[in-house]
Amino acid sequence: MTDARRINAHLRKGEALSPDELRWFAKGLADGSVSDAQAGAFAMGVCLRGLSEEGRVALTLAMRDSGHVMQWDLDGPVADKHSTGGVGDCTSLVLAPALAACGVYVPMISGRGLGHTGGTLDKLDAIPGYATAADEARFRRVVKEAGCAIVGASAAIAPADKRLYAVRDVTGTVESLDLICASILSKKLAAGLQALVLDVKVGTGAFMKHADEARALSRAMVDTANGAGCKTTVLITGMDEPLAPSLGNALEVDAAMCALTGRDKGPLYTLSVALGAEVLANVGIQDGTKKITEALESGRAAEAFGKMVYGLGGPIGFVEDWRRYMPEAPVIRAVDAESAGTVAAIDGEALGLAVVALGGGRQVESDQINPMVGLSEVVRLGEKVDKGQPLCRIHAARVEEADEAERVIRAAIRFGKAPKPVDLVRERIA
Ligand code: URA
Repeated sequence: MTDARRINAHLRKGEALSPDELRWFAKGLADGSVSDAQAGAFAMGVCLRGLSEEGRVALTLAMRDSGHVMQWDLDGPVADKHSTGGVGDCTSLVLAPALAACGVYVPMISGRGLGHTGGTLDKLDAIPGYATAADEARFRRVVKEAGCAIVGASAAIAPADKRLYAVRDVTGTVESLDLICASILSKKLAAGLQALVLDVKVGTGAFMKHADEARALSRAMVDTANGAGCKTTVLITGMDEPLAPSLGNALEVDAAMCALTGRDKGPLYTLSVALGAEVLANVGIQDGTKKITEALESGRAAEAFGKMVYGLGGPIGFVEDWRRYMPEAPVIRAVDAESAGTVAAIDGEALGLAVVALGGGRQVESDQINPMVGLSEVVRLGEKVDKGQPLCRIHAARVEEADEAERVIRAAIRFGKAPKPVDLVRERIA
């Protein structure tokens, strides 16, 4: 008889798991018959030993089928994008409504913070009233009415990922090609998409630090998703510095609102347009760059965001006056440069972990997130900084936590020769 001990023992010895064993495990994650300890051991086993290609596909499909697989009957294409995770990456908040404004329906099932990276759901939880745990009926209604809805995996949709994701977040078991592939695609395939774009991050703030790892993950996800009938392409994009100028939950909602309303046309805006154009191309809509830009410039994307927020329980008129609703930390401190110099390197993972330590992420599954904390106005690679000029601002709940974050930030931002500028979008994999 199959049981979790036996499956974990097979993994430990490097023996291939059968599709039946993986289905059994995914079902156990979903119905609670597999414990957190068993899930943690499984995640570590997969990280260390890996699954075969067949095993990876079987785990992905088993996790997709651990809940309900949605189907849609709408008057437009149903598509989405998902990122493998980075720091200051709040693209989903900009992109989902921009696509909705272009006539694409976006049923986005997102995740919480994972390891050092922020999670879209934790960011949206910073908006008072917003129901990231909406049930399927409400999710469907908001997708239909606003064109997009961003919610979490639930007891009904991809429940196996909901469990395993929370365990991986706090057990140092995120960086596995197999687990990332199964986690992302189980949710996306359960959402019943016809097309998908994956943003595979590479660099100091990503799980994949090197181009060859990012390529291998991209290839695995493209093959698995297309094999499951969802037209999928990947953009491999740079994560050698935070994408937005801010890291943290409420702070990233603010950054996303600035991009969504055209006030900030930095890398977050640029990447949102590139990914949006790729999604539109995958559903057969031409001139994507122009269309997404128009959606953002005209205010139609912001309008769709406002409708989504209201539909999911947030304040009416959020987009017009969002700062009124965003909580502010009691301690806000500039980290001033101790000497003049040029920013040569930023350790994105260290900055992400500083935000987790401030309370913006979880150390154990039961931790409550503090939406107010994080970093803002982070300097960019190649930027020339004068002595006394801020490298960033820390938003903390307590002075001692700000002290510790300051120590980490000073070590994470290095001065030296300016790095050669590189394109944000490094490669496309179809
Ligand atoms: N996003 C997910 O949903 N899962 C991962 O494992 C990584 C990023």
